[in-house]
Amino acid sequence: MLLSVGRLSLLLTASLLFLPPLILSQTYNYGIPIREIAPRRSSASRVVVGRLPSREDGTVPLRLEIRELIRLTEQWDMFILALNLFQALDQDDPLSYYQIAGIHGVPFQPWNDVQPVAGANNSGYCTHSSVLFPMWHRPYLALFEQQMYFLVNKIATLYPPDVRQRYQRAARNFRMPYWDWAARAPEGETYFPEVFWNAQIDQNGPNGTQKIKNPLYSYQFHPLDEKAFPWTPLKYWTETKRAPNTTKDIRAPPSNNRQVSEALSSRLPDIQRRLFILFSSYKDYNAFSSKANAIAQGSSRWDSVESIHDVIHIYGGLRGHLTYVPLSSFDPLFYLHHTMTDRIIAMWQALNPSAWIEPMAAIETSYTTLNGTIQDSSTPLTPFYISDDGSFWTSDLARVPEAFGYSYADTDVSVYSADEVRRNLARNIIDWYGQTSAVGIRNQAQSRQQVDDASAHRPPSRWAMEENSDLSDLHVEQVFKDNHYTEWIANVQVNVEALDGQFAIHFFLGQPPPNSWEWRTAPNGVGDVPIFAMNRSTGSDAKITGTLPLTTALMERIAQGDIPDLSPEMVEPYLRANLSFGVRASDDTQVSPQEVDGLYIVISSADVTVAETEDELPSWSEPVSRLTLW
Ligand SMILES: *[C@@H]1O[C@H](CO)[C@@H](O)[C@H](O)[C@H]1NC(C)=O
Ligand SMILES: *[C@@H]1O[C@H](CO)[C@@H](O)[C@H](O)[C@H]1NC(C)=O
Ligand SMILES: *[C@@H]1O[C@H](CO)[C@@H](O)[C@H](O)[C@H]1NC(C)=O
Ligand SMILES: *[C@@H]1O[C@H](CO)[C@@H](O)[C@H](O)[C@H]1NC(C)=O
Ligand SMILES: *[C@@H]1O[C@H](CO)[C@@H](O)[C@H](O)[C@H]1NC(C)=O
Ligand SMILES: *[C@@H]1O[C@H](CO)[C@@H](O)[C@H](O)[C@H]1NC(C)=O
Repeated sequence: MLLSVGRLSLLLTASLLFLPPLILSQTYNYGIPIREIAPRRSSASRVVVGRLPSREDGTVPLRLEIRELIRLTEQWDMFILALNLFQALDQDDPLSYYQIAGIHGVPFQPWNDVQPVAGANNSGYCTHSSVLFPMWHRPYLALFEQQMYFLVNKIATLYPPDVRQRYQRAARNFRMPYWDWAARAPEGETYFPEVFWNAQIDQNGPNGTQKIKNPLYSYQFHPLDEKAFPWTPLKYWTETKRAPNTTKDIRAPPSNNRQVSEALSSRLPDIQRRLFILFSSYKDYNAFSSKANAIAQGSSRWDSVESIHDVIHIYGGLRGHLTYVPLSSFDPLFYLHHTMTDRIIAMWQALNPSAWIEPMAAIETSYTTLNGTIQDSSTPLTPFYISDDGSFWTSDLARVPEAFGYSYADTDVSVYSADEVRRNLARNIIDWYGQTSAVGIRNQAQSRQQVDDASAHRPPSRWAMEENSDLSDLHVEQVFKDNHYTEWIANVQVNVEALDGQFAIHFFLGQPPPNSWEWRTAPNGVGDVPIFAMNRSTGSDAKITGTLPLTTALMERIAQGDIPDLSPEMVEPYLRANLSFGVRASDDTQVSPQEVDGLYIVISSADVTVAETEDELPSWSEPVSRLTLW
């Protein structure tokens, strides 16, 4: 009853004001036309990505986690209002949400009048499988943030005089928030924050509280350009989707954010272990940066920040827009995900200040670069101008976040020295991402042991992982010899266009369950390496890689008495006999590994030395290949 009354009044308002349906009726009503707040930009003038103003004391404002931003009422209100307004801007405006999203992939049109190179106009400007992956996305996000900053500051001026100053002060320090997908949910909250879940929200603003479209839920096309989105079923969808269930309704399936939250949080332990290894073992910038590096440059380290970031695209989209490279940037989650990715990049840079880009060929074609083109730190990051004179940002110019006028609490050198920042980071990385790795489990056992020694309740040096009772019977000596232990990793290599779109390699101890849709939750599952691949179009045999750490699963086998320790003598035969894998295609069906072009799976191990002090990450030996699974 209530619901239908609500909908009726919404329709009534829209028709009385002669507004086009839906989109405008869901934009916050300031009482003045949107064009007076954000005048339309002509495509004739160049858009320059600049540096946002510092605080009055000269320091740069921080990009905050979304849950921190929610607590800052003024900034939060203006963030939601600005994103809602941004999404309502005319799709012909080069500074509209639509056009800025369109830089990354479809509609494969020039932006800022930066033209494609011959043979490349069937791609977006974004650089994937490229050493430019981390730094290209930095000015891209800065452009998005700059437009948000402009709108936030405009909205601040619309508040009534008694509160306007408060909002204007808050607006000055506005920066894009990130969503920390590598952190466990705070007590009592969902992992994927509920602010993304509802299609409509009650939002407070300069003209009171109104029911508006939630700009974090989706982007609504106005209109949908079917030429740009020719794919079934995406060509039907007038707004971006997450985990759409097309069995129920192919044309307008609702998003299922609960499913996104569950799918992603089930991947969290793998994400954390991969990050822990990335931060402690990867010292070379090219190896850190892209999933194309390992094969192109013969590195024994097959993970990368790009490959880890892919997990969020695949499980955050669950066959919605985020899952497809050229469509992903239309989902508003893209920007909070990529801001988090940029934060990881900034953290890694702070730990490895002298590591930097070595020239390397682009593996995939992008709008202004054919595959095979050598890229380096001075390659223009198109289409982002740094100045009116037509020069572009480069990785060298974008190397520190402060160049764009933002920082992160974890990397901010205005409060702590660079060395203190490094030590704090190492301590935090062990704490945040090391919890379920051997190092974290040992630390917990040791602190538990101190308590136990005092109260003499339990035998000493037992693991004490509350979350993982499978490990509670394990003893530290079974894993560590002095300060050393052996880490085990599954490494996956495939052709960049191996299948039609994304897929995943799942690993098991024992046989895979017969039904591939049960693989994600299989009790004997170790985890998976999701591959955010391109469609088979050119038959490219360029290679990409990703990894899955196996050590925690092996420690569970030690606890069960299947293997005595982590040494190669014990683990290698065990894995040879018991480790299996399966390939799950984008529609959850099983694919024979023979059909996956370029598939190669090798298990490696490395000797890890744990540091003496808590503010130092473990050090790694060069990984050694132990057995070839495929
Ligand atoms: C505020 O919003 C209402 C509709 O919710 C609209 O009628 C009015 O014009 C807006 N502006 C002001 C100043 O009230
Ligand atoms: C790409 O360029 C070719 C040749 O110039 C042209 O026929 C085609 O329409 C272009 N495609 C797009 C998406 O602009
Ligand atoms: C999609 O909907 C169908 C029909 O209602 C249901 O059987 C199926 O379990 C749903 N799929 C998912 C992944 O929720
Ligand atoms: C990828 O390929 C599949 C199967 O050929 C096709 O259905 C789908 O539309 C393609 N998607 C994209 C984004 O090209
Ligand atoms: C670029 O990609 C095409 C098509 O996949 C491939 O045939 C060609 O060898 C690649 N060129 C280079 C230099 O990698
Ligand atoms: C394979 O796993 C089983 C069950 O965990 C175990 O009993 C067996 O010893 C393993 N095989 C080898 C060769 O280690």
